[in-house]
Amino acid sequence: MKRTEVKEALQRTDFGNEINVKGWVRTKRGSKNVAFIALNDGSTINNLQIVVEMNPENDKILDRIHTGAALSVDGTLQESVGSKQNVELLANTIEILGEADPNEYPLQPKKHSLEFLREKAHLRFRTNTFSAIARIRHAMIFAVHKFFNERGFYNIHTPIITGSDAEGAGEMFQVTTLDLENVPKTEEGKVDYKQDFFGKPANLTVSGQLEGELAALALSKIYTFGPTFRAENSNTSRHLAEFWMIEPEMAFYDLDDNMDLAEEMLKYLIQYALDNCMDDLKFLSKRLQDEEKNKKAEERSMELIEKLRFVLENPFARVTYTEAIDILMRSKPNKKKRFQYVIEGWGADLQSEHERYLVEKHFKRPVILTDYPAGIKAFYMKQNEDGKTVRAMDVLFPQIGEIIGGSQREDNYDKLYSRIKALGIPEESMWWYLETRKFGSVPHSGFGLGFERMIQFVTGMGNIRDVIPFPRTPQNLEF
Ligand code: 4AD
Ligand code: MG
Repeated sequence: MKRTEVKEALQRTDFGNEINVKGWVRTKRGSKNVAFIALNDGSTINNLQIVVEMNPENDKILDRIHTGAALSVDGTLQESVGSKQNVELLANTIEILGEADPNEYPLQPKKHSLEFLREKAHLRFRTNTFSAIARIRHAMIFAVHKFFNERGFYNIHTPIITGSDAEGAGEMFQVTTLDLENVPKTEEGKVDYKQDFFGKPANLTVSGQLEGELAALALSKIYTFGPTFRAENSNTSRHLAEFWMIEPEMAFYDLDDNMDLAEEMLKYLIQYALDNCMDDLKFLSKRLQDEEKNKKAEERSMELIEKLRFVLENPFARVTYTEAIDILMRSKPNKKKRFQYVIEGWGADLQSEHERYLVEKHFKRPVILTDYPAGIKAFYMKQNEDGKTVRAMDVLFPQIGEIIGGSQREDNYDKLYSRIKALGIPEESMWWYLETRKFGSVPHSGFGLGFERMIQFVTGMGNIRDVIPFPRTPQNLEF
């Protein structure tokens, strides 16, 4: 018999018909005459209840069925009275595809901590929480492509191995085929990169932006959606060494156009989740509320679905860095030195505690901060007339802090060149980027959305390690 997925089976109303389902056992419970198996195949968060009537043959097989086992069940669809769903399956034949020894299988039908599940990342897809996150992650990937496709953007694959440092922050992983036990040296005693695979130093990209700009200066509107790598040694709940970034880049867009697009995209993704992932969102919302049960009322976060709607319904606040510094300097936690990093004055880099204060306490909605000091931003950002600030924009979200970083780009050759020189960026790694400012240069802008931070926001998960299947963080490369 052809397999019916659980999601479809749960929507059927042709009671009395026989179907086949396959999946993994979540729970098994029984009374004297009948046993109930909750079967899940990942097509939905909801389980199909399998009803097994006791008879000698079923008794034998039931003894071998435990949480985690894989089954193929032929059965009759029937209307359900007892279970949460309207449909259940009265088993006719049960085949065990793969057993799971209850003395060894680590996932039991009880609540496991997220920390424990991180160590069982090979199995955590089989929990409600992680399968819900995986389905939402998929929906968001699809929605990103849909959003850009509907607006005439072209998706560009930018390289993963590069010879340049797009952000200039020096947080790159080196890529080499040299024998590290026996590194070839030049006469001056330096590493002889001529003998390395590419004949020069190479690293994993921190951003597809620079190559994205080259494409935008011909195709007008492009976006990348690829893996990016950062060797920053920060063990926080918002940093990964390997994460996915969405980077649109648009010719003829100034910073205002850029902000409009960023806000439109974020709202589109949230709307898509509300329209397509409601079962999973409801589950995650309940999970969060259970987790926060013991917190004081004022410390609890807004209910997940309400929070998503709230962001949809309110325009983001748009504020300059200089205004934000004024607000922060005058704020209570700064005056009382309750911030870990107290803001001393203009020029300070903002930490996530400051970003969250602005969003959660002051403006009470997402904030786009613009016009940061040049000194704390990347070399490619357009310099303002004031000689101090650049046309940067960061989008700040509740609970997350910075979710998007972007800017209008410096399109003036001389200004860009002098910035590259001033920062000591090797010109030979940037000549191609500079040339686009020599030939048909135009105003253009773009930004990068950290995909995992977006998934954190949509799912309400507190730790970024729980929204990517196999997180890469310092000292952690299992799976
Ligand atoms: O602000 P960032 O560094 O900007 C860029 O890389 C630009 N090239 C983007 C552009 O203009 N095209 O990074 C962009 C976003 C951040 O706002 C954050 O959401 C995310 O990427 N991000 C990280 N996410 C997880 N782990 C990390 N280590 C991250 N670093 C940045
Ligand atoms: Mg940034």
